[in-house]
Amino acid sequence: MRVNLTVNGSPATVDDVWEGESLLYVLRERMGLPGSKNACEQGECGSCTVYLDGVPACACLVAAGQAEGREVRTVEGLAEGDRLDAVQEAFVEAGAVQCGFCTPGLVVQSHDLIERVPDPSDAEIREALAGNLCRCTGYEKIMDAVRLAARRKATR
Ligand code: FES
Ligand code: FES
Repeated sequence: MRVNLTVNGSPATVDDVWEGESLLYVLRERMGLPGSKNACEQGECGSCTVYLDGVPACACLVAAGQAEGREVRTVEGLAEGDRLDAVQEAFVEAGAVQCGFCTPGLVVQSHDLIERVPDPSDAEIREALAGNLCRCTGYEKIMDAVRLAARRKATR
């Protein structure tokens, strides 16, 4: 099957897609975009979160065929050229990255939160990130990173 979609602003065509193949597989294995991580591949951990038509979604749960004609934005697509997005910068600066497996999903989900709620409360941050699991950080640094990103975005 052939799938046409837009990824990070560029049109793309992927051929020979198997019907059971996930969008996550297409992004990582066929398009050379390994940012989105495949930790559970069951929709449980959020490490594969991408924007699908502007709404965060677990790419492991989206069949590649369902992405036909749609717009995908991955963690790679948040940066502008060499300039990281404020959320990406904040995760680095706050030390919110250890093994890094959860980080791309958390970054996309936090990016979406701050777009919708520019000055989120701690409760709003926790609720937004409830579907993103991290085995390493204990979440405090992640909370710090989201607060920092919100402050940064407000002044950019
Ligand atoms: S890899 Fe998709 S939710 Fe875990
Ligand atoms: S930094 Fe390792 S799972 Fe989150």
